[in-house]
Amino acid sequence: MLSSVRILGASLLSLRRETGNGQSWNRLWLQASFAMVVAGDGGPQDRAIDSLLHSAERELAAGFPSAARHDSFVLGRAAAKAALSLWPAMPAPQDVWIEPGVFGQPVIRGPRAMDNSLRISISHIPACAVAIAFDAAHPMGIDLESVTPDAVPDVMRAATPAECVLLDTLTDHTQTDHASILWSAQESLAKALGTGLMISPGLYEIDHMELIPDGRVVCSFTHFAQYKAICSRTAQGWCAIALPKNTFIASLPSYLAAPSRLSLTVRATAC
Ligand SMILES: CC(C)(COP(=O)(O)OP(=O)(O)OC[C@H]1O[C@@H](n2cnc3c(N)ncnc32)[C@H](O)[C@@H]1OP(=O)(O)O)[C@@H](O)C(=O)NCCC(=O)NCCS
Repeated sequence: MLSSVRILGASLLSLRRETGNGQSWNRLWLQASFAMVVAGDGGPQDRAIDSLLHSAERELAAGFPSAARHDSFVLGRAAAKAALSLWPAMPAPQDVWIEPGVFGQPVIRGPRAMDNSLRISISHIPACAVAIAFDAAHPMGIDLESVTPDAVPDVMRAATPAECVLLDTLTDHTQTDHASILWSAQESLAKALGTGLMISPGLYEIDHMELIPDGRVVCSFTHFAQYKAICSRTAQGWCAIALPKNTFIASLPSYLAAPSRLSLTVRATAC
């Protein structure tokens, strides 16, 4: 079982929204923080999980039947604590705990004095987790996916014809990239909404994909036009952040870098 983690990075994200007359919104809650964590490898930068987890989280982790679920939970909680630590007046990591809500959604608990408008979104793949902390006024969601070649057909079977058209235009990307982009964008939206994958997947259909010059893929949604998802290729897989459509992230951290040779914009035409 995993006993230590390494925090690859934790960064404040500067968010920008414009009012109708071209002025930028100036709200204290218009910020977010992001963190990425991997399994510890015994190096000097490792953090013992006991230094990050609350006793309630350690108890929950100890009750999981499989080592894989224990480790994913621990990695996710560590990423969440690293992201939360960047917010002002945040208690020590062991004094804050994140408990599953009725639908499995992560809910932040802590001392009474703590700001109760903070929210968190978590995603994990084997040996890596990401988390994003944000204000309740500005919903966000995160997902990290690394679809293996053998899982591509299953993922692509769930794609709508319009989504297949969009993905086919990403000619510089592999089939595993396509599946990971599709899946991560939709799951990040599912988490921002708090619905997870408990509703018909077609409701998360992507209707627009834009490959921007820095290599990220920005998606918008047929039925949730108020949201977009920014998908970045990382060394661990594709990481999608869902956020309100008219919010711009001034700069994403370098460990979310996604160099690319192509730049094009496409819109779905077939369905
Ligand atoms: C939630 C879901 C989208 C996660 O996708 P995944 O690829 O399996 O896993 P990820 O690592 O990306 O995300 C898992 C994290 O999503 C978060 N999450 C779970 N349900 C969520 C929801 N309804 N809304 C927002 N976030 C949720 C949790 O923090 C979870 O990690 P944790 O359990 O360690 O805290 C997907 O599992 C799902 O919808 N499942 C069906 C809902 C379900 O089984 N709920 C159980 C209780 S009814």
